[in-house]
Amino acid sequence: MNAHAADPAAFRAVMRRHPSGVTVVTSLREGEPRGITLSAFASVSTDPPMLLICVNREARSYLYISSSRIFCVNLLSVDQRELAERFSGRIKERQFDDIAWSTDVTGAPVLDGTIGHFDCAVDAEHHAGSHSIFIGRVLACTQRPGPPLGYYEGAFRDFGLEEL
Ligand SMILES: Cc1cc2nc3c(=O)[nH]c(=O)nc-3n(C[C@H](O)[C@H](O)[C@H](O)COP(=O)(O)O)c2cc1C
Repeated sequence: MNAHAADPAAFRAVMRRHPSGVTVVTSLREGEPRGITLSAFASVSTDPPMLLICVNREARSYLYISSSRIFCVNLLSVDQRELAERFSGRIKERQFDDIAWSTDVTGAPVLDGTIGHFDCAVDAEHHAGSHSIFIGRVLACTQRPGPPLGYYEGAFRDFGLEEL
């Protein structure tokens, strides 16, 4: 480790101060779907539309995304906390049992009831420490009405969304 790097625990503690939305990023490899709850997601480019996600290379989803080179970012609505828990490791196998989903362009699962999704092909992967940054080219996207699920200080939240 670099002598000037901050302590990982301190890094995590400060990151907890940053509120985020919650997504489930899905992929499909050899016909088998896989998903991971993920908040490290950002817009990269509008023309062409591109975004990024950061995935721990020890997560099972990493192998699915890096080998299939497709993924779908599903933006969770405030009433989908159970999905966020399910895809953050509570259910290891048969993650998609009893879940309603469809597909868009790539074949990666598009979860029902979300507030939107971005269906992507991997454009580039960059290793960065424990994680990989996947840059996705957005091949299709759709939005739906409804409030988002939030995450802050280690807990799922309803952000309320009153305009200041
Ligand atoms: C709110 C929340 C946000 C998360 N964000 C990320 C993230 O951005 N990247 C990541 O690799 N893991 C993230 N995780 C952790 C993964 O969801 C978790 O490690 C998951 O169990 C990995 O599953 P897998 O090994 O079955 O693929 C997050 C978890 C939660 C609860």
